[in-house]
Amino acid sequence: MKKILITGAKGQLGNEILLLSKVYKDYEFLFHDIDTLDLTDFKNLEKFFQVHSPDIIINCAAYTAVDKAEKEPETAHLLNAEVPGVLALLSDRFNAYLIHISTDYVFDGRNYRPYKENDLPNPLSVYAQSKYAGEQKVLQFGNTVVIRTSWLYSRFGNNFVKTMLKLGKERDTLSIVFDQTGTPTNACNLAATILKMAESLDHNDHIRGIYHYSNEGVCSWYDFAREIIKSAGYSCNVLPITTDKYPMPASRPYYTVLDKSRIKNTLNITIPYWKDSLAECLKDII
Ligand SMILES: NC(=O)c1ccc[n+]([C@@H]2O[C@H](COP(=O)([O-])OP(=O)(O)OC[C@H]3O[C@@H](n4cnc5c(N)ncnc54)[C@H](OP(=O)(O)O)[C@@H]3O)[C@@H](O)[C@H]2O)c1
Repeated sequence: MKKILITGAKGQLGNEILLLSKVYKDYEFLFHDIDTLDLTDFKNLEKFFQVHSPDIIINCAAYTAVDKAEKEPETAHLLNAEVPGVLALLSDRFNAYLIHISTDYVFDGRNYRPYKENDLPNPLSVYAQSKYAGEQKVLQFGNTVVIRTSWLYSRFGNNFVKTMLKLGKERDTLSIVFDQTGTPTNACNLAATILKMAESLDHNDHIRGIYHYSNEGVCSWYDFAREIIKSAGYSCNVLPITTDKYPMPASRPYYTVLDKSRIKNTLNITIPYWKDSLAECLKDII
């Protein structure tokens, strides 16, 4: 039976894969987070590959604190660039595939149309630079897939949806930026797609390189917040503001809508519209 190693298993995406894995009877899943497999301990990581020989590695581990990364560039780089590089090297040595997750923030957001996989990245923040460096390291090996996603949320962990639900309950008014546009991604949809890709890797030699995945549609953080507050039935008033009125330590790109044609054609999937997927997630949270 083939083995799939999930790293960062206690994060948003890792937890969604854990839930879905129960119906995948043809694979043995190994779920690990920092408490059982610290990916920065490279010696131990190599030993793990020797002992368990995973066939596919799905790397959900990352340093995801975008603003904090500005003050901790070394830690962000270690986890988002060095670790994926070592995972790719070990996967290559042990004849395994690596599915690595990256971000829409590798782009500078100056595009006028959805980003394709071969558009040139130009990361604006430490987090984004570390993720782009991770992509470059893993793509040096032939047995790797990089999936870039955007605005990830889930019933698990902390994210924008949960923050809006909390603040929307407590406050009368919320001011949210409307000049950063992209697409939210329900991590459970991404998890299903990743598992489909893992299955397909066995049969399709053309599945290599970069793919984009988010839910369908386009919105601003303001639109996203309004939909969350409206769905929760809160009376909180959501007001649009520009990015300069809400200064953050890390610069964010203005426009990061992703073109998902490649992943849709390769895996023959349809992708849920972001409002429909949000409604599904809110059923579990509210
Ligand atoms: N969240 C977003 O909005 C977003 C958007 C675009 C792309 N992405 C990408 O999507 C992927 C999944 O994101 P996510 O939101 O699911 O991340 P997450 O919830 O932050 O989960 C990451 C997991 O990795 C673990 N981890 C940290 N250091 C580790 C180490 N040394 N060894 C092993 N595990 C370690 C974390 O543990 P601790 O919690 O203890 O640190 C956490 O459980 C990431 O690659 C991220 O960059 C995320």
